[in-house]
Amino acid sequence: MKLLGTMENVNGELFIGGVGMNELKSAYGTPLYVYDQTALESQLSLFKTSFVHPHLVTHVAYASKAFLSLAMAQLVNDFGLSLDVASGGEMMVAYKAGFDMSRVIFHGNNKLDDELDLAISLGCGTVVIDNRYEMARLKTKLSALGVTMDVYLRINPGIDASTHEYIKTSNHDSKFGESIYDAEIMSIVSELSTSSCFNFLGFHCHIGSQIFDENSFIKAADVVLSFYKKVENELGLVLPAINLGGGFGVYYTDADTPFDLAPFLSLYLSTLYSRILELGLSITTVTIEPGRSIVCNAGSTLYTVGDLKETYGKKDYIFIDGGMSDNPRPALYQAKYEACLTSKLDESVSHTYTIAGKLCESGDVLINDFKLPSASVGDLLLVSSTGAYTHSMSSNYNKLLRPAVVFVKSGTHKLVVRRQTYDDLILQDIL
Ligand code: LLP
Repeated sequence: MKLLGTMENVNGELFIGGVGMNELKSAYGTPLYVYDQTALESQLSLFKTSFVHPHLVTHVAYASKAFLSLAMAQLVNDFGLSLDVASGGEMMVAYKAGFDMSRVIFHGNNKLDDELDLAISLGCGTVVIDNRYEMARLKTKLSALGVTMDVYLRINPGIDASTHEYIKTSNHDSKFGESIYDAEIMSIVSELSTSSCFNFLGFHCHIGSQIFDENSFIKAADVVLSFYKKVENELGLVLPAINLGGGFGVYYTDADTPFDLAPFLSLYLSTLYSRILELGLSITTVTIEPGRSIVCNAGSTLYTVGDLKETYGKKDYIFIDGGMSDNPRPALYQAKYEACLTSKLDESVSHTYTIAGKLCESGDVLINDFKLPSASVGDLLLVSSTGAYTHSMSSNYNKLLRPAVVFVKSGTHKLVVRRQTYDDLILQDIL
């Protein structure tokens, strides 16, 4: 397993943020989501300092769907970044965390009426309108109240980015946004720009997630900028801002080759700026929405090894005390991960194990055929790079309890989400 962030080998034991995994197990039990706060902070600051340009106003909005808790929202707020939320629930967590709501960007392909009302009442800064129907609903609400809201329109530039089918968002059949090739697109844009309810800022696009090809982002930006030009030519409409979404790929295993973010971000902006000048556009503000690339490598999941089973077919299983309920990504996207036995870092890797969870599902396998030292019942096993889309996609399948979340930094640990209890499982039940 590659050591990431502040991970270190201290006499054969894995430490993160200066804290040993045995200490975390004693303090909180397992399964446990462990976030390396220094790694989180360094990604937040990387985006903040690298996504800058002398002639453009830039905003980085953390895509909170990747991982959100009150503590995470506060950390993002402290860094002065914006926040992308995709539901009333995410918006409410931001609000409860004291997030500056003017820096919240509201997304979603089917924003409910209640959610739009909440966005208006909480003073949510920007709504990214997904489609013409939502535009009409929001317009009715805003005109009844006599208020104006900053909005973008999500467009689909039809870029087929190379990533898993389930996390592509920009093919012609995607459920997200309005296609730039749609016959009605100019009338939608015209309505957005002429209605007094909307302060129409520009277009949003997000081509997918876990993308390793830098050119896909540049190509998408190019197509979107050409669309701005078309809008200017056909409608005489000059728009001041653009939002290009997230999607930057990260390392999970050595099969992944992410590009270097800092140089990419400045190249991205300078390419964008040259294109803006070439086309004679008036865009002055650029926003991006990274999620995974901020939190993924900062998070790990700590488990306790239970029974070790060798099947009749000669597969060596390590059973852990969690599984697809705390990390559905292998089952959903065939996602790959690395792992280690946290107190056996100095032992040679001698066995090939399959790491399976405890849920009643044959697909509940976190890692297939992974080499580790010889495992024993009670060992601690850590799966790295689980910081994105695990806690946020976790479930109570088989009524497993959702794990706790702890932030570690400089030798200290802080519980930021407590483990669920059996009582939590029936909190909403009524007899
Ligand atoms: N902006 C929008 C509008 C999005 O839909 C997303 C992700 C992002 C930004 C952030 O993308 P990121 O930088 O994290 O790639 N559950 C899947 C990922 C779904 C991504 C959904 N949208 C997974 O576990 O891989």
